[in-house]
Amino acid sequence: MAAPKKSTLKAPKPLVAGNWKMNGTKASLGEVKKLASAFVKSKAKCEVMICPPATLLAPMKALKAKGVALGGQDCHAASSGAHTGDVSATMLKDAGASAVILGHSERRADHLETDKQVKAKVAAAHGAGLLAIMCVGESLKQRKSGDTLKVVKAQLRGSLMDGCTAKNTVIAYEPVWAIGSGLTPTVAQVEEVHTALRKALVRRFGDEGAKMRILYGGSVKPANAAELMAVPNVNGALVGGASLTAKDFGGIVKAYT
Ligand code: PGA
Repeated sequence: MAAPKKSTLKAPKPLVAGNWKMNGTKASLGEVKKLASAFVKSKAKCEVMICPPATLLAPMKALKAKGVALGGQDCHAASSGAHTGDVSATMLKDAGASAVILGHSERRADHLETDKQVKAKVAAAHGAGLLAIMCVGESLKQRKSGDTLKVVKAQLRGSLMDGCTAKNTVIAYEPVWAIGSGLTPTVAQVEEVHTALRKALVRRFGDEGAKMRILYGGSVKPANAAELMAVPNVNGALVGGASLTAKDFGGIVKAYT
């Protein structure tokens, strides 16, 4: 019997992205400068990104020279118009972002965002030339009732349009119950979900799906970063609380050296 064909695809470069959520003012710029210097020195083999509140994108622009990318945390599906309080993908790009987090569970919960709306935002992000970091994840109730894979696969299906590529899309698996709770799934649980997501991505996007990065997010800390990054099909981390200090975020990035 012929040996199975070996994949010639290169493993994607991991991405470690910090989601600052609704935290940070200009007083936080010092912290982020410290982080950038630590990153430059560390020679970590990953891409590093900070997603601050939109108000801090422009003041953080200097970070890009140090190799730290910037991302937004949400965008409107339209590029401009009568949408008081919203920010468009074009505006994020203009302020210095190269990416945007979309469909985070806090937005799905607080703003009742549906897969359909998330999908429209992903299209807007791509249209503006931004990398879309699209989040999926199950609630504790859904995990307990054995629905995890069904839930995340449905979110994946409904929140992306055909034609997504590894260059314009990243997936983040974030179990809702692990976010900000200090709880993390077991390595086997993370592997099970990431493997299922990979299969679904390959089925839909072919080679692009094979190369698309799938981040893990939910209580990632310096102490568990190395263990999580070693899980097959984990191609980086989306970090909330621990991304707010250079010490903790730097500790996570260090796992990728
Ligand atoms: P956490 O948040 O690291 O504080 O759990 C992760 C996220 O919500 O992206």
